[in-house]
Amino acid sequence: TENIGERVSLRGLVEFSNNCSCDCYYCGIRKSNFKVRRYTLTKEEIIDTSIYCANAGYGSIVLQSGEMQSKKFIDYVEEILIEIKNSTRSDLLPEGLGITLCVGEQSAETYRRFFKAGAHRYLLRIETSNEGLFGKLHPPGQSYRRRLECLDLLKDIGYQVGTGVMIGLPGQTLANLAEDILFFMERDIDMIGMGPFIAHHDTPFAGFALDNSERKNNIYQLALKMIAVTRIVLKDVNIASTTALQAMNPIGREEGLNFGANVVMPQITPSAYRKDYLLYEGKPCVVENNDECLSCIKRRIESTGRKIKCNEWGDSLHFNNRLKNKVL
Ligand code: 5AD
Repeated sequence: TENIGERVSLRGLVEFSNNCSCDCYYCGIRKSNFKVRRYTLTKEEIIDTSIYCANAGYGSIVLQSGEMQSKKFIDYVEEILIEIKNSTRSDLLPEGLGITLCVGEQSAETYRRFFKAGAHRYLLRIETSNEGLFGKLHPPGQSYRRRLECLDLLKDIGYQVGTGVMIGLPGQTLANLAEDILFFMERDIDMIGMGPFIAHHDTPFAGFALDNSERKNNIYQLALKMIAVTRIVLKDVNIASTTALQAMNPIGREEGLNFGANVVMPQITPSAYRKDYLLYEGKPCVVENNDECLSCIKRRIESTGRKIKCNEWGDSLHFNNRLKNKVL
C-alpha cells in the first residue's frame, strides 16, 4: 500500500471471441482444439456488455480474444473500440470506459489504429522470458523475438504495457522466474498479470496435469510469492490478481490481493459463451452471470479489508512516473 495505496481497481473482462490462429501447446482454445465451439460476440452484445460494465462502476474494460490478424477482425475491433467509447461516456466517466486490449501479436499499423480508436492499455504476456522455454511452449511459427518486438511497438505507440508469465510451466525453474521479474524491470513494464499454469485436457500439455495436491499447493504458493516479489521489486506497477489463482484455490484472488496485487478483473462475458473460453481446466466463474460476479467480487475484495476504486480507469502509476521521467 505504500506504493499504490490500499484501493483495488476493477476491469470488466469480456472474452469477445475464441477464434484463434495460434497453436500454443498449453492453451485450451488453441487452433488445433477442434472440440471448441467457436464464437464471436456481435457488436450489440459487446456494446450492451460495455454499458453494463460502466453502470457497474468498473471504470475500465478488458477486451480479450484469441489472436486473429485478418482485415475483418481488425476492422471489427477498431469499430468496437470507437463505439464503446461513444456509448459509455457519462458524468461519472467523462471519457468513457478505460479500455485495455488483449488480442495478441499485431502489426505496428494495427496497434496504432487500435490506440487511436481508444484503447490505451495493452496486455501481451511473454509467458516466459526464457527464449528456450518459450520455444518449447509454442509451435515453430510463433517466435519469442516477435513477441519482444510487439512489446516494444506497444510502448513506442504510447500504450500502458502489460505483460506476464505463467508459473509452474513444464521445465521452468526458480531461476527462470527470478529472471522473469528482472525482465519486467528491464523493460519498464507498467502492468503485470501472472498466474499458475493449469493443464487443459485437450492440449498437448494434458499430461502435465497436477494430480498430487502437495505439488499443486507448491505451484499456487509460488504464484503468490511471484506477486509479492514483483510488488517489492517493481513497486508502482499494476498487478492483477488473476482468475487462474482462483482456479487453484477458492480464495485465490483474495490471497493475490494480500500478496501485493491491486487489480481484479470481474467476468462480464455473456454467460452463454463462458464455457467456450476455457484456457485451462477448472476455470471459475463459468456458470455465473454478470450480476453474480459483481456481488461476488465486491464481497471478496471487501473481505481483504481493501477498498474498491469505482468509476476510475485505475491507470498504472508506473506509467505516469515513466512519462514524468521522460520529460526531464
Ligand atoms: N494455464 C494457465 N494460464 C493459461 N493461459 C493460457 N493457457 C493457460 C493455461 N493452461 C494464459 C496465458 C495467456 C492468458 C490469456 O491466459 O498466459 O496469455
